Amino acid sequence: MPYHFLRHPGVLWLVLSAILIGCASALYSPTQDDAEKAKQAGMTTSLPRLRQGRDLYVRTCAGCHTLPRPEQYAPRRWPGLLHEMIREQDVELGRRDSTLMLEYLQVAGVRSDTS
Ligand code: HEC
Repeated sequence: MPYHFLRHPGVLWLVLSAILIGCASALYSPTQDDAEKAKQAGMTTSLPRLRQGRDLYVRTCAGCHTLPRPEQYAPRRWPGLLHEMIREQDVELGRRDSTLMLEYLQVAGVRSDTS
């Protein structure tokens, strides 16, 4: 019987939780420190705006593919990528929401902590 862990659902649960937590933490949650760094870098944003941006990103962009990590692309590339999704994939996103989402995605490039 090679699948001993099936007789111990607790172990399986631990493994699954570890995987789920691992996925959730891959997408950074903005902090006050991130908002400060963004301002120092000349960006106009705030912690509430960054939080809204993350929220929009998770709600709008996870339907068709896994969410790319924001730091996966240079900040200057995000406007084009977002525009491509709106134009070619018919993603519905208003101007205000695009701006908020872009702030979240681009601030990833000025954070020192990349986790
Ligand atoms: C309706 C489905 C759909 C939704 C919703 C969607 N995408 Fe995509 N996305 C795709 C497809 C299909 C591809 C691969 C084809 C391509 O690269 O154009 C892709 C590719 C990408 C890529 C890689 C592109 C590259 O050139 O390397 C990024 C980054 C991306 N999406 C970001 C987003 C963001 C940000 C959102 C939310 C605003 C989003 N996607 C929502 C369908 C979607």
